[in-house]
Amino acid sequence: MDFQTVVQRRKMVRSFSGEAVPPEVLEQILGNAQRAPSAGFSQGWAFVVLVGPSETGLFWETISDPEWRADPYRPGLLRAPVVIVPLTDEAAYRARYGEADKAAYGLAESEWPVPYWLVDTSFAAMLILLSAVDAGLGALFTGLNHHDDELMLALGVPPEYRPIGAVVMGWPDGEDKPSPSLARGHRPAESVIHRGRW
Ligand SMILES: Cc1cc2nc3c(=O)[nH]c(=O)nc-3n(C[C@H](O)[C@H](O)[C@H](O)COP(=O)(O)O)c2cc1C
Repeated sequence: MDFQTVVQRRKMVRSFSGEAVPPEVLEQILGNAQRAPSAGFSQGWAFVVLVGPSETGLFWETISDPEWRADPYRPGLLRAPVVIVPLTDEAAYRARYGEADKAAYGLAESEWPVPYWLVDTSFAAMLILLSAVDAGLGALFTGLNHHDDELMLALGVPPEYRPIGAVVMGWPDGEDKPSPSLARGHRPAESVIHRGRW
């Protein structure tokens, strides 16, 4: 698939067939995540990869309530054979920017212009979303909104790592219900892109 097609097809998928994702496809997607740019090449990311109903079931049961799971549109989402939880380690960035070649930035102990640890893991998550499309898969990036502490505990994640959300992935079953948010439409380019100056 050419790159422009991948970008144009990239949209959140929320209903899946449940058919397994071949391991080699999943490995390529995870390999691509590690190709993301990284501030100071800190790479303070990690990914918990959940495959199959027992592992993904634990995820859903930890982050959601039975009432939420009972929504008629939920089974298609819960059928997804893969859930990836992208994590980030803020301390790894502070340590990296305390090293000799980065210390002049003065970031190790201070406020950062933006949290580079979130930027890096978000870039990696985007590569996962685009790689899924390239493989013919569908994916949803979802915020965890609640229960992230419980999820970290359930997955045995070391305390220095925090999740940025989760990527739910599988084969689209075509039963998707578009997000009501899409009714907002894309903001017009002229209100977003400022050429030369704002
Ligand atoms: C940080 C973040 C959090 C999101 N959280 C949710 C969520 O909790 N549930 C959901 O269905 N979609 C979630 N989305 C997906 C957005 O609703 C979606 O990207 C947006 O409506 C545009 O649709 P598209 O990605 O299909 O183009 C989230 C996206 C981002 C970037």
